Amino acid sequence: MSAIEKVSDLMAQYRAGYSLPGPLYYDQDVFDLEMKAIFGTQWLFACNECEVKEPGDYLTLELGRNSIIIVRDDNGEVTAWHNTCRHRGSRICQEHKGSVGRLVCPYHQWTYDLDGTLLAATQMPDDFDPKRYSLKPVHVCNVAGLVYICLAKEPPDLEHFKRTVSPYIIPHQPARTKVAFESVLIEKANWKLVIENNRECYHCAGNHPELLVSLVEAALPNDTRTHWFGDLMKRKGNEWDALGLPHQPVNGGIEFRCIRLPFNEGVTSMTMDGKPACKKLVGDLTERDLGSVRMFHVPNNWNHFLSDHIIHFRVIPRGPMETEVRTTWLVHEDAVEGWDYDVNRLAEVWQITNQQDQVLAEQNFLGVQSDAYEPGPYSPTGEFMILDFNRWYTTTMGEHLPPGAPGLRVAAE
Ligand code: FES
Ligand code: FE
Repeated sequence: MSAIEKVSDLMAQYRAGYSLPGPLYYDQDVFDLEMKAIFGTQWLFACNECEVKEPGDYLTLELGRNSIIIVRDDNGEVTAWHNTCRHRGSRICQEHKGSVGRLVCPYHQWTYDLDGTLLAATQMPDDFDPKRYSLKPVHVCNVAGLVYICLAKEPPDLEHFKRTVSPYIIPHQPARTKVAFESVLIEKANWKLVIENNRECYHCAGNHPELLVSLVEAALPNDTRTHWFGDLMKRKGNEWDALGLPHQPVNGGIEFRCIRLPFNEGVTSMTMDGKPACKKLVGDLTERDLGSVRMFHVPNNWNHFLSDHIIHFRVIPRGPMETEVRTTWLVHEDAVEGWDYDVNRLAEVWQITNQQDQVLAEQNFLGVQSDAYEPGPYSPTGEFMILDFNRWYTTTMGEHLPPGAPGLRVAAE
């Protein structure tokens, strides 16, 4: 059986409403197709544009065999390039982040402008045409300060997403922030289990006492699991309407979600005691009691936009069995550490929560590899967002299976 037949066969075993067949979480051929069909094709969250604030500031991102440079050019635009020299292919930027005037390959010093054009290459013949050896570009879309990249030649449309979520995000002005703290966790779990774990709060009551100081388990304004939540949502919604801050859930289909939800009564930030994390509010906000805008975009990004800080989460697979989760905590660019905020206090809740989630995802991953594992039913109320994610996943993978493959039946359901 060829790899594609095997993947197709596994996809055909998927039953909507149930967790995925085990090998879809750990099989190398499945992962290889995911790297093409999903991580090589879809828009991926890379960073906040404030991380490359000045021309020449860059950071790199490893996506399977590809390394990408995200750099601000001399016109102030955020651009992205394959971090692969057009001479003999060496990596150019070998640090994760830095600042450069030009992109100079360390091997033989081919030198590129920040717009990707080759400026200098010594010892090449007279007929050598540097115009033919620009860096290979990667698509970039800046969504209200959040940088998304896409490796596809023809990227899917991101305009609907951009137009829909921007009004929710813009009041928090992500571009006018700075990274106060960053954490990178390498989790021994398949990336889909990391996402599944994020897409539900069914596990919160049993695992996240620190997070639940602020977060309410309800995911929609009309959530019936907490009878008091509807009243709180109505009251806060009226306050936010008066401030001109959108809060209703958007229609992002199975690709994205965006909503502003309140925290528990009296809580303004995701701290251990629910009190502010930073004296200075982000953007030009004047009110603290704004809950958080929760925005998720398949396949690798979720965020919280609070009144006093922003948290971005970025998921990048490193193999079928290992996933990098990068979290950044951002505060107003003028906030002063030690005066406006304390880093430990700012990051404590989500650092603890991330570690708890790491254990949950890793134990889940061990379990799905057992001979005893068989796909189990999701809760329609507690895990409805995983149903959306799995529908997106099987549809996207199905589009990359050959015509007539059994996996396509799944995509059509
Ligand atoms: Fe980059 Fe030779 S490989 S200059
Ligand atoms: Fe969790």
